[in-house]
Amino acid sequence: MASSALICDTEPWKDLKAHVENIKKNHLRDLMDDVVRSQAMMVEYDGILLDYSRQQATLETIGKLFKLAEAANLKQKINLMFSGEHINSTENRAVLHVALRAPRDKVIQSDGKNVVSDVWSVLDKIKEFSERVRSGSWVGATGKALKDVVAVGIGGSFLGPLFVHTALQTDPEAIESARGRQLRFLANVDPIDVARNITGLNPETTLVVVVSKTFTTAETMLNARTLREWISATLGPSAVAKHMVAVSTNLALVEKFGIDPNNAFAFWDWVGGRYSVCSAVGVLPLSLQYGFSVVEKFLKGASSIDQHFNSAPYEKNIPVLLGLLSVWNVSFHGYPARAILPYSQALEKFAPHIQQVSMESNGKGVSIDGTPLPYETGEIDFGEPGTNGQHSFYQLIHQGRIIPCDFIGIVKSQQPVYLKGEVVSNHDELMSNFFAQPDALAYGKTAEQLQKENVQQHLIPHKTFSGNRPSLSILLPSLNAYNIGQLLAIYEHRIAVEGFIWGINSFDQWGVELGKSLANQVRKQLHASRTKGEPVEGFNFSTKMLLTKYLQASSD
Ligand code: F6P
Repeated sequence: MASSALICDTEPWKDLKAHVENIKKNHLRDLMDDVVRSQAMMVEYDGILLDYSRQQATLETIGKLFKLAEAANLKQKINLMFSGEHINSTENRAVLHVALRAPRDKVIQSDGKNVVSDVWSVLDKIKEFSERVRSGSWVGATGKALKDVVAVGIGGSFLGPLFVHTALQTDPEAIESARGRQLRFLANVDPIDVARNITGLNPETTLVVVVSKTFTTAETMLNARTLREWISATLGPSAVAKHMVAVSTNLALVEKFGIDPNNAFAFWDWVGGRYSVCSAVGVLPLSLQYGFSVVEKFLKGASSIDQHFNSAPYEKNIPVLLGLLSVWNVSFHGYPARAILPYSQALEKFAPHIQQVSMESNGKGVSIDGTPLPYETGEIDFGEPGTNGQHSFYQLIHQGRIIPCDFIGIVKSQQPVYLKGEVVSNHDELMSNFFAQPDALAYGKTAEQLQKENVQQHLIPHKTFSGNRPSLSILLPSLNAYNIGQLLAIYEHRIAVEGFIWGINSFDQWGVELGKSLANQVRKQLHASRTKGEPVEGFNFSTKMLLTKYLQASSD
């Protein structure tokens, strides 16, 4: 396919458009009877089992999706990503988050340089620093050990580390290594978030890690200044050197802020913010909390998936299959959303993280060369752990709109409980739902079945489930640092696959800029009105009225 051609103009795309009409005539109830099909739709790799037999697809569909992948040059695009080419063309950058978890002896060249050795020199520095802090050899200004960490950052400098931290919090090995320590995340510029984060903390025993790729993000910088003030007010300005460190690609601005460059942990412009959890962005705060060896396992899990993604044939390649199925659901079935439903409370921050990775990556309106797209890209990602979600939004998924679901289950609980006299363990109880929900969605319940159950006639329409609702199931052996790394990388690569097929740039995010610059204009107005009493000017009627009301009411 020539670079300017759109994927929707290719034969495989047109073929799938016709094919989906045939598929719509099938019901999952019938498709699930085909054991050969179901068997072929199960893939295992490194302890992970993917079952996509509850997708509205046949083996013929999968073959056609592979042809679409060929037409989109998927394999070449994956190769270009792994080989450090500047595939983020609008920012002229490589996309090399895979290098962040590559083994020490691996060579990945970008711009004529082996980036893996740079990665490991920062990892070594993090290991050394985190061990000093954890052992108490690095102390605060008053000689006390720093047992609490506040990581200040937003977006990609927050959501990934928060997801991993939340997932590790109840892992037995991680609990042991985190004993006596706290890790908190300050993201929102809302002063309430500052208050919540510093409540109960003593600056004497707190280390602040300012995490910002650019070191210019308004929210993060204001929060960093606020915590700098919190430290200086109690311990004096010189305490900042002992109580504040930074993670950034912009080491000049780190120094300008007043953080010793020796206490800055670098990463590189070839790491996208939302793909940065495996850089110092995640590795530093997580190593401070759990120790470097736990975090190294997380990196190894992600690296295992990187190797799989880069080498497995399509039919066995979990991220490729997931990405193609997402394209199938969005572009051919026309389903605009995707629910991410982990049956693990430890994964409660997984959907919010994937929401950013996915929606910031693939919510685009033009192709990589700027051609407006005649088809939608990206999907609306949302989710909650099961079974909580079942008591919230599942009603809509069962009887309302069709939303393809990802069910994520864990074989061995981090915290098993067996109560004497109960039918099953608490984890089996949870997992009963994990296994039941996909079939409830796929099979539904017919009026005939309800009649046989003697359901009152007038209730039958309300109690009928149409079924034929797609889902896929991912079963992880356990939820330790390694598995968490695997899960992260599966989703990162799945999202890249979708973008590669749609022919977009999944690695830029120009859509967040306009709001930022308008906020700048409002900020200037607020300052001028509050300090010099200047009237609100230069906005439309609505914004002018809202701002005037806000200024008047807040100065009363
Ligand atoms: O929301 C836009 C964004 O640029 C994200 O892509 C990024 O993760 C976040 O802001 C934070 O940026 P930074 O790490 O530079 O502070």
